[in-house]
Amino acid sequence: MTGVLRRTWQRCADCGHEIGELARETRCPECHGLLEILHAGTALSAEQLKQRFLAHPVTAHGAVASGVWRFQDIVLPTATSPVSWPEGNTPLLDRAAVQQWAGCPGLLLKHEGMNPTGSFKDRGMTVGVTQAQRIGASAVACASTGNTSASLAAYAAQAGLPALVFVPSGGIALGKLAQSLAYGARTLLVRGDFDDCLRLVEAAHRELGVYLLNSINPFRLEGQKTIVLELLLQLAWHSPDWIAVPAGNLGNTAAFGKALREAKELGLIARVPRIASVQASGAAPFAAAFAEDFAVRHRVRAETVATAIKIGDPASWDRAVRTIRETDGVVLAVSDAEILEAKAVIDASGVGCEPASAASVAGVRQLVRQGTIRPGERVVAVLTGHVLKDPGILLRYHQEMEPAPAKANRPVEIESHLRDVERVLKERKR
Ligand code: F0G
Repeated sequence: MTGVLRRTWQRCADCGHEIGELARETRCPECHGLLEILHAGTALSAEQLKQRFLAHPVTAHGAVASGVWRFQDIVLPTATSPVSWPEGNTPLLDRAAVQQWAGCPGLLLKHEGMNPTGSFKDRGMTVGVTQAQRIGASAVACASTGNTSASLAAYAAQAGLPALVFVPSGGIALGKLAQSLAYGARTLLVRGDFDDCLRLVEAAHRELGVYLLNSINPFRLEGQKTIVLELLLQLAWHSPDWIAVPAGNLGNTAAFGKALREAKELGLIARVPRIASVQASGAAPFAAAFAEDFAVRHRVRAETVATAIKIGDPASWDRAVRTIRETDGVVLAVSDAEILEAKAVIDASGVGCEPASAASVAGVRQLVRQGTIRPGERVVAVLTGHVLKDPGILLRYHQEMEPAPAKANRPVEIESHLRDVERVLKERKR
């Protein structure tokens, strides 16, 4: 960006000594006082400055600033008072270290962890909770591996609705449990896995009348469509060749297919990208079924470090099959080791994500190696959750695992002595 301010320099707040903008000192070289930055020389009026500030996107108040409600015409046209944080408007990132690791120079990362509660769930939840309010629900509920419950808790609080969440006891990441408690949801730690939680909440919905806000609820998927709509908009409606997404309960896989179908029908895009739906190998019933052309529905007892996608009997099965068929998509499984390595690369690039999110990038690498993703193809991998969702796994990986994983970044405890700092700096140089 070219500025109109002609000069920037530094001045000591104590003695007035001035030094240049590019001087390396962080204190006044004369008196050791603290420095301040000065800008001068603007020739613009206040009106002109305001215009220039507005040339950059501005965060407005409420749903008008939402990356979900931007698409209201094809999401929920009749809603008049959306319950919005606001959410969406997440970045599409380009990181060389991740592209290199995946062997895919055309890889972009759509970071859904940059939503208000740290996952893509907020996109579905703004629509789901809006709908709950429209129909006069008295309470809302969900089963969750942690992110849906965090999001539901936050949106229900904003709508003033009581929330009930069912999570597997001891089976969800620390950040997510903490959020659900903080946002005030009644949190049930169910002695069982996610699949048990889902059965239980469905029974509670049928028998006890609470409004169900799992991704079984089609209004959730209308919101989740906007992940795809927004990334297409960011690419000026030029479809990428592939969209890779981590898959657990298959809500996103289903929503992505619907978004692409509608975008094509509406003439927003000329070509439908292929969906790569990526599961953890210990929780991969959908990948197993894909290998048999979906002849039968598989169910497994799920096990993976990526607790967000530790799901053995995905709910949105049929609609996800439709997505894979319609987009000439693929379903694959990646190991926990691949997920953790991909995550370490994404984290060390400064982007960061939770373990399940990294499955998308690990999946891209596998597809490149197989030759399914061809050189030069454009790929968007969706990162579904924020790095701080699962601090437990980070501490295990970097601090505790023996032997240290290749990409472990061990912290160094030192005495409060300069020589210790010097020693560490030298080690780094080696
Ligand atoms: N990534 C993250 C971070 C998730 O939290 C989830 C699902 C997925 C991927 C999989 O998406 O279910 O649409 O295939 N989390 C749900 C939850 C199950 O309860 O938070 P999906």
